[in-house]
Parts: sequence; structure tokens; C-alpha cells
Amino acid sequence: MAITLAFDVYGTLIDTHGVIAKLEAIVGDRARDFSSTWRDKQLEYSFRRGLMQNYENFAACTRDALDYTCSRYAAGITPDQRQALLESYRELPAFEDAEPALRELRARDCRLFAFSNGAAEAVETLLSAAGIREHFLGVVSCDDVRSFKPNPAVYAHFLRKADATGSEAWLISGNPFDVIGAISAGMRAAWVQRSEDSIFDPWGIEPTATVQSLGALADAIGV
Ligand code: 2OP
Repeated sequence: MAITLAFDVYGTLIDTHGVIAKLEAIVGDRARDFSSTWRDKQLEYSFRRGLMQNYENFAACTRDALDYTCSRYAAGITPDQRQALLESYRELPAFEDAEPALRELRARDCRLFAFSNGAAEAVETLLSAAGIREHFLGVVSCDDVRSFKPNPAVYAHFLRKADATGSEAWLISGNPFDVIGAISAGMRAAWVQRSEDSIFDPWGIEPTATVQSLGALADAIGV
């Protein structure tokens, strides 16, 4: 049976800090910190909306997190700048290692899916703009079940949509909360530790494999 791989999108295939150049024009040398706060707050809002069962889609989490971050950094942005930043989130760049690694995994007969908090339409647009959509059999979105990672229901939804079982399916993610969520839901999971500074959450649940880049994935998962 071919191995099924569920690729997390934001932070794994796609670089959410691709907005930094645009942010520099607005907040100068605070752009990197601004981008990190925006991303952290986006995820926090998704976790909170999931827990509260007060669903709005991931784009709403991104929008509200941007507004929060602008207040926190006292960045007085115009409505046009706000719109441009939100638009740029729909066309972020892929990490450099993504395309060659996806190509290689496909050549090794893996079944590749994108699996994201993002709504299917947003993820389709993003992957196409980044030039990597062709490598995937499909896009599976948590939006279908109106919840977010790491709700166990979203990993079960992925397995159903991909027609796979947990023991033959891997989540590939740069986000430790996602890796722990997938393993807790019965999948295998590889953590992409993109920087030495990234720390895995000390919950006593370890990734099935850890790689420093997507290029090392095929060997690490044994395909
Ligand atoms: C994703 O689902 C968690 O942002 C991450 O794409």
C-alpha cells in the first residue's frame, strides 16, 4: 500500500514570513517581530475559536490577528495597506526545499495531500501561486469540519478524505502542536525543524521522525 503524506501548509510548505518585505515598508526594522506576533496570534485565535466552538474560517483568524498586531505595534496602517497585507497572505512563497522534495516523493510513489487549517479555495490559490499545486492528489481543509488543528476530528477527517488509515499515513509539519495532534489521533508524524531555535513541546509525545529540511524526508520516513 502506498504511503499517504499529509503536508501541513503554512509554516511547512509555505513561508508565512514571506510578508516581511511588505511589512518593512510599514513598520521598518520591527517587521520580523511583527510577522512573528501576527503568526502566533493567528494560531492562538484558531485554537481559541476551536475550543469555544465559535467558528470563523482561518482567513478571519489571520485578519483579526493582523488588527491585533497593528494595535500592539501602534502601526497606523491605511485600509489599502491592510488589504494589501491580507492579499499577500494569499500568495506567500514556498520554502526553497518544498518543490524538489515533493517531486522526489511523488517519484517514490507516495500519495501527497495538502492538509491545512486554511479554507480549500485559499490553499488552492496559495499552492498554485507558489508553483507546487501539481504535486498533490488533493487539498483537505479543516474548514470542512468547521474546526482547526489540533482537534482530533480534523485528523480523522483527513484520513477519511484521503482514504487512508493512521498506520499508513504521515503528517508532515513544521508546527509541533500539529505533530502532537496527529500522533494523538493515531497518525505517524514527521516534524520539520526548520531552525535550530525551534523547540519541540515537552509533552512526552515525540515525533515519529525529525528532519531539518524537506529534502531529508524521503529517507527519514523510509520510502
Ligand atoms: C496549517 O494548517 C497549522 O497553519 C497551519 O496550514
